[in-house]
Amino acid sequence: MLSDKLLAALNEQITKELHSAYVYLGMAAYLEAQNLPGMAKWMRVQSEEELEHAMKIFDFVLERGATVTLGTVEAVPTEYESPAAAFRAALEHERKITASINALYELAVQENDYPTQVMLQWFIEEQVEEEDNVGRAADMVAKAEGHPPVLLMIDHRLGQREE
Ligand SMILES: [Fe+2]
Ligand SMILES: [Fe+2]
Repeated sequence: MLSDKLLAALNEQITKELHSAYVYLGMAAYLEAQNLPGMAKWMRVQSEEELEHAMKIFDFVLERGATVTLGTVEAVPTEYESPAAAFRAALEHERKITASINALYELAVQENDYPTQVMLQWFIEEQVEEEDNVGRAADMVAKAEGHPPVLLMIDHRLGQREE
């Protein structure tokens, strides 16, 4: 059985993943408005992945016979100073999520909850990938800042991300 403490933390993580989806949707809206459809698509795909993350924990909680609670998903910005600033914010966001997943794992260890530890191992690996992917994209966009032709090239490239 999931302990109350761990259940609360897992439910909070569901909300954080949904909030992540929302954050990237806000960035997609901003990038569409900037006429950067490739970058916007990249963010839309990222947003969908976050929904999948939320659902993984949602299903895990249910599988454990516990009660899912869904918290408030806070409002997010749909404006940024520049495309590079949006991608920088995305990387910052992923780093925060990594810290949150790590803390959740630590709690699962403290509570001697082995199934949660196993489930979270997927997320620990995923966060390495997430920071790498977002970091690479952020780096590309940062390098293109102030060079419109390069920015359009990067936009095209990021738009090739698969759903
Ligand atoms: Fe996530
Ligand atoms: Fe993520």
